[in-house]
Formats: sequence, C-alpha cells, structure tokens
Amino acid sequence: MSLLRNTALASPIRTAVRRSFARPVVHIRAQQAYAPVQSRRAVSTTTQKQAIVLTGTKPASTYKAQGASPLAAHQTTDGYRLWLRDACSCPLCVDPSTRQKVFETPKIPANISYKSVTESKDGKSISVTWNNDIPGYGPEHTSTYEKKELERYDNNPVAVESLQANEGDTYKIWNRDQVSEKIQFIDYNKSMEDDKTLFEVLKQLRLYGLVFIKNVPGENGPAAMGKRIGRLRDTFYGETWDVKSVPQAKNVAYTHQFLGFHMDLLYMADPPGFQLLHCIKNSCEGGESMFTDAFYAVNQLQSSHPAETSVLAEFPVNYHYKNAGEHYRHSHPTIEYDTTAHSTSPPRPLKYVNYSPPFQGPFNLANGTADTTSLAQLSKYHGMAGKFQEITEREENIYKYKMKEGEMVIFNNRRVLHARTAFDVSSGERWLKGGYIDTDVVLSRHRVLREEFEG
Ligand SMILES: [Fe+2]
Ligand SMILES: [Zn+2]
Repeated sequence: MSLLRNTALASPIRTAVRRSFARPVVHIRAQQAYAPVQSRRAVSTTTQKQAIVLTGTKPASTYKAQGASPLAAHQTTDGYRLWLRDACSCPLCVDPSTRQKVFETPKIPANISYKSVTESKDGKSISVTWNNDIPGYGPEHTSTYEKKELERYDNNPVAVESLQANEGDTYKIWNRDQVSEKIQFIDYNKSMEDDKTLFEVLKQLRLYGLVFIKNVPGENGPAAMGKRIGRLRDTFYGETWDVKSVPQAKNVAYTHQFLGFHMDLLYMADPPGFQLLHCIKNSCEGGESMFTDAFYAVNQLQSSHPAETSVLAEFPVNYHYKNAGEHYRHSHPTIEYDTTAHSTSPPRPLKYVNYSPPFQGPFNLANGTADTTSLAQLSKYHGMAGKFQEITEREENIYKYKMKEGEMVIFNNRRVLHARTAFDVSSGERWLKGGYIDTDVVLSRHRVLREEFEG
C-alpha cells in the first residue's frame, strides 16, 4: 500500500475564547428565607410557594419532618449539595453567551448548605437558595434544576458516555451473517441533504461500526462527508490521503499482497475513531475489502476463556511509526473496557480494541519494573492474542466486499478491523481516497441529530 501524502493544510486560525470571570450583577428577586446558619432544624418560610427550608449538615430527618420533600435522601448529603451547587447553570453561573461556567469548583465553600428548596407548581423543577454560597453571590442567587435533568445525572453519574455504551442503543456485535442482514448502503446525496438520513448513517456507525455510502461523486468523498459530519482529523498523512496503484505493464508479475487485519494510527495516544475510504477506481482483479468485528471476537473470548482474557486488557503492546521524518509511538492494551458503563454482569462493555500487527514494535521487557516479569505475561498474551486473531480471521466472521467505484465505506477504527485481499496491478487501476474523523466529532453530530429526531 502506498500512501501518497497530500500537502499539509495550514492550521486553522484559532479564535481565542474569552472567559469571563466577572460576576454578573444580580437582578433576580428570589424568595428570601433566612435561617441561622448553625441550625439543624427546618425553618418554615412564609412565601407563596411554601418553601421547604433546610439547613445544617444532616438535614435528612428534616425532610421526614416536612413530609413531602422534593429531595430524595441521597440529595441531602454533603456531597450532593456540592454537586448541585456546582451544577447550577443559571445566568450568574454559566455565561449565557459563551455557555461557559464562570466559577471554579474549589471556590464553593465546603460548608455550603441549602437555605431553601422549593418545588415548582408543575413538579417539574426545583429551586434552591444557599447558605454559605460562593463569595460574591448574594442571597438572591437562586439555582433552578429540571428534575428530568437531575435524574439523568443520577442514572449516569459520570455523565460522559463513550461511543458504544452507556446510552439506550448500545452497540451490537456481529459476525458475517448478522452484519450482512443489517449492513446499509446509503445514498450519498440523501445523506448530504437530509439530516434524518445522516442520522441513519451515524446510527449504523454507532451500532455496527460499519456503513457504506453509495453514489459518491467526484474524487474526494471523505472531505465532503467529513465536513458534513463535522470535520476531518488532520494527521501527518494530510486531511485526506490516497491509496493508489496504477498499472505497471513492465512489472506484470507484481501483485500487491494481502494486507492483514489491522487498525490505523495506533502509534498515537488518541487514534482516530473513524476512517472513511472512498473507492474512486477499482478495476484490478482482487483487492476486496474485509471487515471483522473485534468486539465480537472479544465477546467470544470472554465466554470461552473468562479468566485468561484479562491479560489482553493488561498487557501493553507497543506501536510505532518511524519513517520520513516522523517518529510516533504509543502503547495500548488490546482490550479497553468502558469503565463508565454501569454493567455489573459480564460481558463487560467494551470501549476500544487495539490491534494492529503491522505497526507493532518490540514489547517492553520490564514494563516499568526492575525485573523482567513481563516476559511471563508475554507468553500469556501470546496465547490469548492468537485465540483473538483466530476468531477475527474466521470466514464466518468476515464481511468481505469488493468496493465499486463511487462507493465509500465508513468504519469505527477502534472496533472494526480492516484488511484487503491481494490484487493484481497489471489488470487495472486501484485508487482509494481516505480520511479520518475523531470519535468526539461523530458523537457530537450524533447527539445533536438524536435530540432533533428522538428527543
Ligand atoms: Fe488501514
Ligand atoms: Zn447559579
């Protein structure tokens, strides 16, 4: 495979984002409910909304005394008070224009407490006023929270989801027959013009990590699709790059060899999440694309070798690229679990698989220790990596497809392994145009469209 480098594009001019530290002037007239700071007892107020007033450090019993508390027991802990104050998104706490938080978490006094907690009439939100608020915030500072939003954080405490897991539609692992049923070839123009179709593209990527776009015009599908989704990842290969073979009449016997299953750019700390390959010419014999779901292989291993599989999550594998004035290197374990997911029962949700034999460097002998215990680990790794590879390469697990001119594949580079069969360069021309997109960019677009179409 020859990667012809494009001229690097000039880096975009960065617009400085102004952070505002100024405290806005407070104009909000909130209900006034003053209670002695030290008091642990509930103090009633005489407001129209019938505020429930809570103070002190252990107000749980207060709620019982009050009867209908808008807060659950866990919401009365010191930790939750801190969390809730930190999460305030009122115009005094989050700049309405930049949407940036204007105070720092450490500025919240440790002894902050609820002055009042009031439920809205429709029961959909609660409003909180504070004792010992952040210096500079007056008694009129009122924090209002949608209950639905609070529940969302309760159910997902880290509130940061990975691509595959932690949301309703988690990933679906596949073998050849399963993906053949689900694979989609989506029309390019429709996906460019219609947001709902683009959402379909992103859903396919989320669930299966593999989707095809058909009827792609011109010679730079990745650039257009990258722009449509968000933006392409610029690497030392350029924003887009070419995998090109032209007929070499004088070298008839020469055949481009089989390229085994791998992932791209694992020698980087943050390898690109997605890869796009636009088939511009493919008249050679051979040169079929192959895809296999590494998540499926890990899942199989977890069932057959539950204990031994862990070595793949622990043993670091070095990847490197030292060529043409570049020197990248990074190590990754083969399996990365999604530690933010809430699954208690096996199989553990996966975040990434890292597997790219062509770019591997020598293993570490000591892994940061003085001895060479990692050599014993290497034997275990060797055994399990072999089993992993065997599953990924089984015919029944491989989706094989010879891309036609005008088709573009997009796949999850941290989940789906890609390979290519040998092709005969004397028999025609083969030209693919490639590009990468970061996971965050795909996730952002997916979230925006999901909100639009699924609420
Ligand atoms: Fe590749
Ligand atoms: Zn606020």
